[in-house]
Amino acid sequence: MIKLIKPYISFEEVEKEFKDIFESGWFTKGKFVEEFREEIKKYTGSKYAYLTTSATTALTMSLKAVDIKAGDEVIVSDFSFPATSNVVEDLGAIPVFADVSLETFNMLPEQLESKITPKTKAVIFVDALGSPDGIHEIKKICQKYNIPLIEDGACAIGSSEFGVRCGNIADITCFSFHPRKLLTTGEGGAVTFNDDKFVKFFDIKLNHGAVVNDGKFDFVDYGYNYRVPELQCVMGIKQLKKLDDIVSSRNTIRNKYIDTLLSLGFKVQEVSNDVVYNVQSLVFRVPAHINRDKLISYLKDNGIETTIGTYCLSGTTYYSKKYNNIQPNAKYLQDNTITFPCYDGVDVKYIIDKLERYR
Ligand SMILES: Cc1ncc(COP(=O)(O)O)c(C=O)c1O
Repeated sequence: MIKLIKPYISFEEVEKEFKDIFESGWFTKGKFVEEFREEIKKYTGSKYAYLTTSATTALTMSLKAVDIKAGDEVIVSDFSFPATSNVVEDLGAIPVFADVSLETFNMLPEQLESKITPKTKAVIFVDALGSPDGIHEIKKICQKYNIPLIEDGACAIGSSEFGVRCGNIADITCFSFHPRKLLTTGEGGAVTFNDDKFVKFFDIKLNHGAVVNDGKFDFVDYGYNYRVPELQCVMGIKQLKKLDDIVSSRNTIRNKYIDTLLSLGFKVQEVSNDVVYNVQSLVFRVPAHINRDKLISYLKDNGIETTIGTYCLSGTTYYSKKYNNIQPNAKYLQDNTITFPCYDGVDVKYIIDKLERYR
């Protein structure tokens, strides 16, 4: 079976540091946590980086950091994984779904602007499948209305727009290190930002609500433990070092698919020249005459694992029942996109051959 994903990390790469950690018995809150945070800052260019257990916990904390409360409206990109809106819902706030471009799959500026109301307290822009295409334009609109912009960059480590890396564009960015992502720590996430005003919040809230004075804990607030263990941070550090090579090799593989697939009537997710795209997921729109689900089954029967692009949040059972406001482009993309395997060593020729024979 040609698998959809293959992690960019081997046991040999982490063996020495893992051994050191086991020998020292120091499994959490140690030097690898600090090193990983430093490396994320350096890589993204952001002033601050905090680790979390996932992008979901990173997003929840970011919404809390900008003081989202029950009844507030948060405008979210509608083509994403449900975690993007679940975190809004979880706080009793209202996710307002903004439709996306059929070409870039990202939030449409006119959709955002038309959905802003006096109750809008934040915007979550999703880098669809890893592409930040259009985020600077969204940022301008957020600045015009003075609304904080949170970037759901779960898929976007390694990407940039106008030479600015994800993690250093929005007010707050959230990353995921789930195994489906380019950089994985098994599970894990990170929050990055530049504004000093968020430091106290994350310092205290991610440390059970405590400030530490002379080694003593003073619990000045309630808080959480979303820490990432030392072992996982070693994995992160190793992959961050080779991330640019990973991104460039995925782009080479993407290009191998593009010409033939376009000639077969597929349309690739468009990424403008100002964007460096990490190709987190290589997603195409299928031609009108092809039933996407049947194509996925056919490829599976031929030993090729593929999947849908991602979800139309407003069209999921839960959100459609509750808000009854399905966004047409996101729904179209959910039903008509396919993700292909894209990593070193994948047999693109074989996959293309099977696609050419599909009737
Ligand atoms: C856009 C987006 N946001 C959030 C998440 C949630 O990430 P995590 O599994 O790290 O919580 C995902 C996961 O796939 C995602 O794709």
